[in-house]
Amino acid sequence: MGIRGETGVRAPHGPAAAAPDAWTVATAPGGIPLLGHALALWRRPLAFLAALPAHGDLVAIRLGPQRVWLACDPALVQQILMDPRTYDKGGPLYDTMRMVLGNGLVTCPQNVHRRQRRLAQPCFRPSRIADYATVMSDEIGAAVGQWRPGRTLDVTDAMLDLSARVTTGVLMSTSLAPGVAAEVRGCLATVMRGVLLRAVVPLGPFYKLPTRGNRRFDRALSRLHHIIDGIIAERRASTAGHDDLLATLLEATDDEPAPDACATGRGPDRPTAPPAHQEAPHAKEPLTDQEAHDQLMTFLVAGIETTALALAWTFHLLAAHPEEERRLHAELDAVLAGRPPVPADLPRLGRARRVVTEALRMYPPGWALTRVTTTETTLAGHRLAPGSTVLYSAYVLHQDPVAFPDPQRFDPDRWLPERAGSVPSGAMLPFAAGNRKCIGDHFAMTEAVLALAAIAARWRLRPPSARTVRPVPAAVLSPGPLPMVCELRSRPDGAAPAVPSQAP
Ligand code: HEM
Repeated sequence: MGIRGETGVRAPHGPAAAAPDAWTVATAPGGIPLLGHALALWRRPLAFLAALPAHGDLVAIRLGPQRVWLACDPALVQQILMDPRTYDKGGPLYDTMRMVLGNGLVTCPQNVHRRQRRLAQPCFRPSRIADYATVMSDEIGAAVGQWRPGRTLDVTDAMLDLSARVTTGVLMSTSLAPGVAAEVRGCLATVMRGVLLRAVVPLGPFYKLPTRGNRRFDRALSRLHHIIDGIIAERRASTAGHDDLLATLLEATDDEPAPDACATGRGPDRPTAPPAHQEAPHAKEPLTDQEAHDQLMTFLVAGIETTALALAWTFHLLAAHPEEERRLHAELDAVLAGRPPVPADLPRLGRARRVVTEALRMYPPGWALTRVTTTETTLAGHRLAPGSTVLYSAYVLHQDPVAFPDPQRFDPDRWLPERAGSVPSGAMLPFAAGNRKCIGDHFAMTEAVLALAAIAARWRLRPPSARTVRPVPAAVLSPGPLPMVCELRSRPDGAAPAVPSQAP
């Protein structure tokens, strides 16, 4: 390929400008004919990616016929994230997700992003998150209230269930009957599995064949669209009595126009999004039903799995580090004294927050994300043609021993204020950065800290036997099934553990 060991000069602007030394550009070793590095990435994604910074600052990975560039240096990642016009949303996963999420915030191209973000922003204001926290506490209490001592849970599954309850509760409050909420979760799981398959194995026309898997995917997707269309229609007919995220979203207005019909890009049966360089026309319009639909789907897809898997990893790490678990229990016993957490406790749950933050560092759910160049550009001194796919991995960045000494160690105290200040800017990116940074970061942290506190105050989760947990390569980084036994905790002051409330 002629680029192994190629060097370039650091870009003359942005975060990379400070260091004038040469970048190294390389190709990942060990590619095989036809598949390139796809098999290695599929089989051991974290180890494969984590080994690449040793080869260069910018490393080419071959996935079948495609070449993807991994930016290994935090300064290069910042350069990408701070220049969304050049590095727009795209790549196999986003292109496939756009089929499901249309022009929702996660997948929309840059030219319609500003309007989408401004319309969604009121839903994520700190005052709104404070309102949601009460709903979150109630939903967490109801989910955990069903646990019984001695029961073995798949913690990954239990966290998906809990997060689905919280997210649908905050998004749509009473609009989703319990049976339908479970159906939404099942459909989302099927759709996300199908999206991942289509992104990793891009066999185009094959997915139109009436195979069992394809029909299951199509059914789940159209059922989801149907449920969401129904909820929006119901809310349009009568907005009275709702004070949830959807109500805020439907009330939102913006000076910028709604894109015309052809700018909504959901599904092969729906028109596609406009090219990234083409600005949407200007005429003031309210949020359209299609925009509301795409945004609701987006919040469900972006909010449930990410937060759930962050929590699943958190419990896995705590079970493997009893000393850290003991410290967490001490904080929970001191702050809560046996009662369930309420939103007002959040400022005093510093250790719980640090535990979640450290789990996000070690296993960031958004472990590998892509952008596509809209124009010719230079990265690490290497010329990238328009349409090049660039990858950044929070997992790789979070394993940097310079930013995080002893990076494999679970050390929540890294996030004590006096130590966190020494983490270089741009080194910790679980929620990304720039204008495409996660809009749900406070939402997610509020939910995760409340859930961790509610569960760990009452329960200790123990794996029934020693086994190695291997991350499962999916759109979101998952520990796979995590069987754990629920043990009721007794507090050191001898007080009886809180009695689990009855299942609703
Ligand atoms: C621990 C939980 C979460 C993690 C780790 C996470 C991570 C991320 C990351 C890394 C991005 C940027 C993606 C990119 O650069 O391509 C992102 C974007 C986004 N996230 Fe989250 N997220 C979490 C929870 C949530 C929640 C709870 C919601 C909403 C309810 C949400 C909604 C979004 C949206 C809408 C975007 C797109 C923002 C934009 O482009 O303007 N996320 N998230």
